[in-house]
Formats: sequence, C-alpha cells, structure tokens
Amino acid sequence: MFIILSNYFIYIWLTIIICIHSFVHQIRVELPSVSESTSLELDEYNEINFDQNSNSLYNTSKHVFYWLYTSNETDGQLLNRSEPRMIESTTYDLANPMKLIVHGWLGTTQEKEGLCSINIKSYFKVGNYNVICVDWKQYSTDLSYAIAKARAKHIGKDIARVVSRITKNMTEGTADMHLIGHSLGAHIVGFTGKILTNLVPRITGLDPAKPMYEKSDPQDRLDFTDAQYVDIIHTNGDQNALFEALGHIDIYPNGGKSQPNCGKMDKRTGSCSHIKSYHYFAHSIWAKEDYVAQNCSSWDDYKNKKCKNNDTTFMGEHVDKNKTGTYFLETEIED
Ligand SMILES: *[C@@H]1O[C@H](CO)[C@@H](O)[C@H](O)[C@H]1NC(C)=O
Ligand SMILES: *[C@@H]1O[C@H](CO)[C@@H](O)[C@H](O)[C@H]1NC(C)=O
Ligand SMILES: *[C@@H]1O[C@H](CO)[C@@H](O)[C@H](O)[C@H]1NC(C)=O
Ligand SMILES: *[C@@H]1O[C@H](CO)[C@@H](O)[C@H](O)[C@H]1NC(C)=O
Ligand SMILES: *[C@@H]1O[C@H](CO)[C@@H](O)[C@H](O)[C@H]1NC(C)=O
Ligand SMILES: *[C@@H]1O[C@H](CO)[C@@H](O)[C@H](O)[C@H]1NC(C)=O
Ligand SMILES: *[C@@H]1O[C@H](CO)[C@@H](O)[C@H](O)[C@H]1NC(C)=O
Repeated sequence: MFIILSNYFIYIWLTIIICIHSFVHQIRVELPSVSESTSLELDEYNEINFDQNSNSLYNTSKHVFYWLYTSNETDGQLLNRSEPRMIESTTYDLANPMKLIVHGWLGTTQEKEGLCSINIKSYFKVGNYNVICVDWKQYSTDLSYAIAKARAKHIGKDIARVVSRITKNMTEGTADMHLIGHSLGAHIVGFTGKILTNLVPRITGLDPAKPMYEKSDPQDRLDFTDAQYVDIIHTNGDQNALFEALGHIDIYPNGGKSQPNCGKMDKRTGSCSHIKSYHYFAHSIWAKEDYVAQNCSSWDDYKNKKCKNNDTTFMGEHVDKNKTGTYFLETEIED
C-alpha cells in the first residue's frame, strides 16, 4: 500500500515537473526574444528591491542560509549573519580547504542522499575541510523555474558577500577555495566567481542547468573565466543540462547525455542522469582512480577506441588542473 501510494506521489511530482519544464520550454520556443528581455526586467526589478526593504522577499540575507560542516562538527552549524564573529564563533579552521556547495532548482541541503550530505560524507572520509552548504530552498522550491532562475544572480551575489566575510575580503584562506554547484547552482557559483575581487582558484560545475541558459552570454551563465580553473561534469546534456563545453575542462561520462542504470522513466525526465553528476563527484573524492577520462573530440571516437592513446585525467575532485579540453569516459563504478 505504502509503495503504491509513494509511487503515486512520485508520479504526480514528476508530472508537475514535466509540466513546468514544458511550460518553460514553450515560453522559450514561442517568444525567444521577449522571454530574454522579460528575465532582464525581472532582474532589474529584483535589484531595486534587493537592498531596500528589510521585509522584502528579495533581501537574500533573510532567506539564504549557510551551513558549516567541519571534521569535529559534522552535524552542521548555521552561520549567524548578525554575529560580528560569524566565523570565529564556529569551528571553521582557516588552515583547512574550503568547499562551498550549492544545490539547484527544487533542491535543498537536507536530503539524505542529496548533493550536500553525500559530498560531506566523502570529504570527511578523507580529510579535514570546511564544507559550507548553501541552502537557498526558500527561493529554489518556487515551482516556477523561471523565477528561480531570475534569482540565481542574487544568490550568487549573496554567496560572494558571505565568502568575502569569511576570507576577510579575499585575503585569508583563499588558496584552497573551491566552489561546487549542481544544475542551477552551477550558474550561481559562476556568478559568485564573477563578483569576487580575486579569481577563485576553482569552480566545479556539476551538470550546469540548460533551460533558459542555452543562449546566454558568458556573463549570464557559468563560464571558464569565472575561476582560475573551471571543471565541468556533464551527465544529462541536451536535456536538463547544457551539453556544450563551458569550462577549462569538460568531462562527459558515458557520453554526457544519459547515464547507465537510470531506468526507463529517465528518458523522459532525465532527473536520474542529472543527479549522477554529483554522485560521481562524491565518489571521486575518496576513490581518486575510479574515473579516468580521456581527451577525445567525441563520444563516437571514444567508443571506437580512436582516443585510446590520448592524454588522460581523473574526473572529479582529483582532476589534473593542467588539463584542458573535452574528455570522455565510460563509468564502470556506479557511486
Ligand atoms: C536584510 O535583512 C537583514 C536581516 O534581518 C537585516 O539585518 C538587513 O538590514 C536587511 N537589509 C536591508 C537593506 O534592509
Ligand atoms: C576541532 O578540531 C581541531 C583540530 O582539527 C581542534 O584544533 C579544535 O579544537 C576542535 N574544535 C572543537 C570545538 O572540538
Ligand atoms: C546571532 O548573533 C546575534 C548578535 O550577536 C545574537 O543577538 C543572536 O542571538 C544570534 N542568533 C542566534 C540564533 O544565535
Ligand atoms: C572589507 O571591505 C569592506 C569594504 O571595503 C570594509 O568595510 C571592511 O572593513 C573590509 N573587511 C576586512 C576584514 O578587511
Ligand atoms: C585524440 O585522438 C583523436 C582521435 O585519434 C585525435 O584526432 C586527436 O588529435 C587526439 N588528441 C590529442 C590531444 O592527442
Ligand atoms: C602542472 O604544471 C605545472 C607547471 O606548469 C607543474 O609544476 C605541475 O607539476 C603540473 N601538475 C601536474 C599534476 O602535472
Ligand atoms: C585535448 O584536446 C583538445 C582538442 O580537442 C586540445 O585543445 C587540448 O590541448 C588537449 N588536451 C591535452 C591535455 O592534450
């Protein structure tokens, strides 16, 4: 009974998501230029409200939360933004690398097997880190993707403010700073990178969102100029995510469009393939050698073994930051 019921809810949920996706796509298909300018106006509208009305929904400091995880506080501490010693009052240790993780549309930080929790588990399995999960669910759970998307720049700006405070205006603890974003979160960390005064050492884009970003200029989406090194993992390209290369390195596991063991439903929703990007990433943190990607110009060439003598790198956390271009691999290990 429970299984039938929960399947039923999943079905309703997926239907809602599909409707929204089709709706978003419909707007784009029918009114491409108008839709672009609408979203720009929306941005300006948000900008005006952004810092003026303390009760406004657009005052991100009331709606975006930062959860800090350190080796001896793995349950998470909520950063208190009214506290002058916001960082000093926590177990944040400037000697350890900072990993900042941002979820996507309809995401949260609380899911048991979600982006935040599986990556935290992996990081603390191998070392000492300051992991910050950015919770912007008060905006991201808006059922309109278009509205969530219009807020992405503001979330990026908010993160930049908090990061500046943590690093004393980018003067401390910045050498190991790494921003990681999934889907819409990938563009958000891109915006953060654009705003911060020094170039962030690394940004990882996990299957950067595609709807309403296909035609965006580099300043309106994640781009390789947003950090010293930008690595992208594409797992659901051309569906929920962009397929085109955006980073210094773009890695396409299993061709980058759909992932194995995702079931039939995935052809329609792509959601399983889309989240594989962060499952692969979390796995790569503690299992460095499990994903070896090869420089290749296409999946066909890769499958036909035309690239087998080409250059290789690990995918994910341990990517070789000297490597650029497009890389492919077939995953043998799930997650
Ligand atoms: C936004 O909200 C925060 C927290 O309540 C408040 O301290 C701040 O003054 C607000 N910003 C503006 C511009 O009103
Ligand atoms: C957390 O661990 C560090 C060592 O990594 C230690 O210096 C610090 O005192 C610990 N903090 C707490 C609150 O236990
Ligand atoms: C946050 O910090 C402010 C200023 O120190 C303090 O008044 C407030 O109680 C703190 N909030 C929480 C939840 O600790
Ligand atoms: C950071 O920069 C702001 C604005 O320039 C300044 O007010 C603030 O004191 C600086 N903070 C630190 C820790 O240097
Ligand atoms: C990789 O292999 C392909 C196919 O053999 C070849 O065209 C390409 O030049 C190679 N790239 C590098 C960087 O070796
Ligand atoms: C990357 O290149 C730099 C110099 O260009 C070199 O010092 C470093 O060892 C290289 N890193 C790897 C992992 O090969
Ligand atoms: C990978 O191949 C691309 C061309 O597809 C090339 O520009 C790039 O330099 C290659 N990277 C390495 C590390 O060989």
